[in-house]
Amino acid sequence: YLLGVDIGTSGTKTVMFDTQGHTVASATVEYPLYQPQMGWAEQDPEDWWQATAETIRQVIAKSGANPEDIKGIGLSGQMHGMVLLDGDGKVLRRSIIWCDQRTQAECDEITERVGRERLIEITANPALTGFTASKVMWVKNHQPEIFEKTRKVLLPKDYVRYRLTGEYASEVSDASGMQFLDVPKRTWSREVLEKLGIPYDWMPAVYESQEVSGKVTRAVAELTGLKEGTPVVGGGGDQASGAVGNGIVKSGIISSTIGTSGVVFAYTDKVSIDPKGRVHTFCHAVPGTWHIMGVTQGAGLSLQWLRNEFGGEEKDLAKFMGIDPYVLMSAEAEQAPAGCNGLIYLPYMMGERTPHLDPYCKAAFFGLSAAHGRSDMIRAVMEGVSYSLLDCLNIIRELGAPVSEVRASGGGGRSKLWRQIQADMFGHDIYTINSSEGPALGVAILAGVGAGEYDSVPQACEACISRVDQLEPIKENVETYAKFYPIYQELYTALKPSCD
Ligand code: XUL
Repeated sequence: YLLGVDIGTSGTKTVMFDTQGHTVASATVEYPLYQPQMGWAEQDPEDWWQATAETIRQVIAKSGANPEDIKGIGLSGQMHGMVLLDGDGKVLRRSIIWCDQRTQAECDEITERVGRERLIEITANPALTGFTASKVMWVKNHQPEIFEKTRKVLLPKDYVRYRLTGEYASEVSDASGMQFLDVPKRTWSREVLEKLGIPYDWMPAVYESQEVSGKVTRAVAELTGLKEGTPVVGGGGDQASGAVGNGIVKSGIISSTIGTSGVVFAYTDKVSIDPKGRVHTFCHAVPGTWHIMGVTQGAGLSLQWLRNEFGGEEKDLAKFMGIDPYVLMSAEAEQAPAGCNGLIYLPYMMGERTPHLDPYCKAAFFGLSAAHGRSDMIRAVMEGVSYSLLDCLNIIRELGAPVSEVRASGGGGRSKLWRQIQADMFGHDIYTINSSEGPALGVAILAGVGAGEYDSVPQACEACISRVDQLEPIKENVETYAKFYPIYQELYTALKPSCD
């Protein structure tokens, strides 16, 4: 067996797979997101660790597997979060996570200190509020007493690795999102760290994603039921891991993933950089390869907000019937026509990355009339998120990445309606694959390669992943969306002055 642990934003999910990629058992534990001020987002690293230990215990119990038979563990995680540790390995403050938007001033400072061109040459990306570097600089500027005590900077999943193995280690795909890595060379950049005044030895060891980074300690073995010494491989940021778990390990196959955030992801065998910085260029979890991805901040987050704030009936009914409230919401959205009779939603609830790189823009419903109802509002949210994913796909096309196949995944990809909307907007067939475990499967595959169960990541993907479903674009809907997309795009420009 192989274990994949995915430390997400809403919770941690651990899945046990057999070596053909079939799910044997899975467990999820949720935890809170703290928003102490508008645009801020923090989590407690202890919650990630407790959820990891608990879900590992649960999958071992549910599967009845002998821990001796678990050949390796892979860690996937929400990217970019900053965990600061003191010299004794103690957490110094809550983690400032990926969707936090407080650091525009620090981004300007980073650009100034490193130089925009040099920064893009080394880190492959412009300074962005989402990335870890600006969060560390924020602590330097606003909480110097914490900065003084800092001795290590880790990413969310790498903090969990530290608790599992006692090692300070990361791997290239997630490390790319810190903005301290030389992305073309796949090593820490002394130049960037020096220019930002951050000691080089605060960085953990950096591995390729499939390499063994440490082994489960005796104390953790006692706590979780794992066998002492079980290897833990590098793993990956959730997007690179999800890509492996969807078979995005060669040119032409693109994934479109709707989780809390939304991502369109393409594999590249060379470093390919958008000079405008609208899509990210990071190392892929496959040695010697990279990827580009466009990110929309408020994807599943937008529908989750609608469910939480206005979905009372759905939540109660779903609980009563024992089904997922999103299934009911998707069914309700089907009652509305494509284009929602002119109701358009902008998904900028946590600012936006692709294509605007704008931490201050806001979400909006536009075109609301008394004739619209709940079904239109739900569908408009799904469509608005999909327009934003289309923005991402168009930049990937503009950079010359071939697009021969699009695979939908993430919680949003489970809705047939949401997949159809994407097919209609992208003008491409949308496929799904035989496993919906995305990041957890991806890192289990990496663990399998590290443990010698497979020869390489692409070979493992061949063995575990196949296509199961295909949706074709519907001609009338394609025309409707082609009509509304320019209006969606213009709305950002028109509303921008009111958001700053
Ligand atoms: C990717 C990103 C998000 C997080 C949370 O750049 O910020 O996808 O990894 O899932």
